[in-house]
Amino acid sequence: MKDRLNKLFISRFGTEGTFYASAGRINLIGEHTDYNGGFVFPGAIDKCIMACININGTDCVRLYSADLDGYTEFGLAEEDAPQEQWARYVFGVCREIVKRGFVVRGFDAVFAGDVPLGAGLSSSAALESCFAYALNDLFNENQIPKFELALIGQSTEHNYCGVNCGIMDQFASVFGKKDCLMRLDCRSLEYEYYPFKADGYVLVLLDTKVKHELVDSPYNKRRESCERVAATLGVETLRDATMEMLNAAKNQLSEEDYMRARYVIGEKQRVLDVCDALQRGDFETVGRCMYETHEGLSHDYEVSCEELDYLNDIARECGVTGSRMMGGGFGGCTINLVKKELYESFVATATAQFNEKYGHEPAIYPVVISDGAHKLN
Ligand code: GLA
Repeated sequence: MKDRLNKLFISRFGTEGTFYASAGRINLIGEHTDYNGGFVFPGAIDKCIMACININGTDCVRLYSADLDGYTEFGLAEEDAPQEQWARYVFGVCREIVKRGFVVRGFDAVFAGDVPLGAGLSSSAALESCFAYALNDLFNENQIPKFELALIGQSTEHNYCGVNCGIMDQFASVFGKKDCLMRLDCRSLEYEYYPFKADGYVLVLLDTKVKHELVDSPYNKRRESCERVAATLGVETLRDATMEMLNAAKNQLSEEDYMRARYVIGEKQRVLDVCDALQRGDFETVGRCMYETHEGLSHDYEVSCEELDYLNDIARECGVTGSRMMGGGFGGCTINLVKKELYESFVATATAQFNEKYGHEPAIYPVVISDGAHKLN
């Protein structure tokens, strides 16, 4: 990818640039908990967005997306927002840096990636983190604190892309570390690295290729439900709610809001249980919690889809230790914790059965936990 970007950069801009990359992410457990002040447990993966960038001495950004073969130019003032959705991620990052009192001036950039789009692996967070990291290095002598880089990406989603997301994806993309998952407390923003050594197991993603699109999706509606319940219970976020409090307020809530909150409150505890189980090497418990999460996401939170449920059923029938839909939902991947000896037969069975039912094979991505945002040599 680097060679390709280098050639494209030289032919387009007649000079060389500096390389930066940032990764997509998986999340072992803790879904739709981030914007509820709960816990998440993600890690960065070996699929990234890479950019080649050079300061150009003007006030204009010249940006080429190699994968889309799209080119655009924009200024750095609020009214200069580009029309192209893909460019708004980069524009938003520039604006959010400037709003925080840091510097961005004109630059030339070419970028590409191998994070599958719309698969729930956070390609957009990888793009935001890649540019936030790069512009911190190129214009700000790395003075912007790392956590602020994640917040810059999140604000970009809120203010320029219409997705009212939590902090998980951008956090994972910025802080990701090889062979480690990270437990983030989304209320205190404290985090801890957990070495992920699943000897005897494989972590694999099965991609339904049903494209999820969080913009204008029910994602923002889910968040509104949670906020309504929190307000009714008199707590800041559902992090501070218990099942007892929820049940006591049941008749003040719509059936739907009640179900959404029931899932979130259950999921908060599951993340903690999974972290403990992992430290004991108790993968059976990890797996059981993953299935419970899937049930909750499918029936209470209602963010799954038929294809994801089908893959989850196959996993269960094949004796896979843990399986669930991953990410925002409405399509994308399942994440599966599979015993090594079962791996080949599970993937073969899932591929064949899914193909028979939906007329296309799911994509298979074995997970390699990798580093997040960084500068390349
Ligand atoms: C998307 C959002 C995240 C998080 C997940 C669900 O990936 O960007 O902030 O809410 O969905 O866990």
